[in-house]
Amino acid sequence: MLVENQVSLQPYNTLGIQARAQTFVRVASVGDVLALHREHPSWLRSQPLVLGGGSNLVLTGDVTQAVLKVEIAGRQFVSETPQHWIVQAGAGECWHGFVDWTLSQGWPGLENLALIPGTVGASPVQNIGAYGVELQDRFHSLDAIDLHTGQLFSLDAAQCGFGYRDSVFKHAPGDARYMGLAGRALITHVRFALPKTWKPELGYLDLARKANEQGVTSPTARQVFDWVCDIRRAKLPDPAAVGNAGSFFKNPTVSAEQCADIISRDPKLVHYPMPDGSVKLAAGWLIDACGWKGKSVGNAAVYEKQALVIINKGGVVHPATGGEVMTLAKAIQTSVYERFGLMLEIEPVVV
Ligand code: EPU
Repeated sequence: MLVENQVSLQPYNTLGIQARAQTFVRVASVGDVLALHREHPSWLRSQPLVLGGGSNLVLTGDVTQAVLKVEIAGRQFVSETPQHWIVQAGAGECWHGFVDWTLSQGWPGLENLALIPGTVGASPVQNIGAYGVELQDRFHSLDAIDLHTGQLFSLDAAQCGFGYRDSVFKHAPGDARYMGLAGRALITHVRFALPKTWKPELGYLDLARKANEQGVTSPTARQVFDWVCDIRRAKLPDPAAVGNAGSFFKNPTVSAEQCADIISRDPKLVHYPMPDGSVKLAAGWLIDACGWKGKSVGNAAVYEKQALVIINKGGVVHPATGGEVMTLAKAIQTSVYERFGLMLEIEPVVV
């Protein structure tokens, strides 16, 4: 366990916002967290900020509560069932590196989730998803520590309460809908169930198009991984070059009637009918339709190639502030609401 004071958080959030942590603790093992619980219980009781790769985070000011930077490493095969390989990673492992490693070991299943920034420990928090696969489709279980009691516990998928970009870890303990665990639990290890009988998941339009272009009907998992990387690189900014937090809003769900009503005025509306009769709309399209691409507030701007992404165009030297990012986000919400009657929900965690 390494404790530092007055640490700049700029290198630890992919938007590249400047803010300081009064107390910054690197935890590299379960033992580190338990030692912290013995030595500084008050830090763990006052809603610490558990930090992975900082890729889904907007900092709106200095952080006064303790920041726990999770650096628990390790990747290993755990066991097998008739249908699955069970594979585990420490919460601090880089997500993309883990996906790459599982493929090189001969355990496909995570390839559609290639190149998502962040760590393995953060992946269940927002139930990451891309190109037709969500984390919950491959999740087995996780280990965590209750920061108040120091108890170790494990959760299966049902106990994680996964939803679209959602889980118990995104909700505060007082949240009426959930027994929320935000700020209360620190995820130490995550296990995945990877299918022994694998088939490519090519349902997403961009991937189907790629398979068609290449004339490949039965790609290997490595080919799908490469295609997903190509698609992401073409559409989404690389956080190492341009600060961003991925999609800034969730795709909203509306009733079939509401969707038909919008289509009567905007026939080009991008919409996806869901199995339960509701319809998911592309938030990027709604924002784009309101003319936001390239617009900015200070150094926070809407990405030119994908309106769902807010970027820091000031880089490291003149970074956007959290206030600029949130002012832009709120202006986008207002304009989409005024035109379509829909309030977009912010996707990253705002601190
Ligand atoms: N679109 C526009 N203009 C835009 C952006 C999008 O017209 O500026 C249209 C596209 O042409 C397309 C549709 O909107 O028809 C959907 O766009 P895209 O395929 O890029 O996907 P998305 O719905 O915007 C979601 C996830 C991404 C994920 C992709 C691929 C959410 C909030 N976002 O984006 O996840 O990579 O699908 O599966 O669900 C993330 O969560 O950070 C993220 C990047």
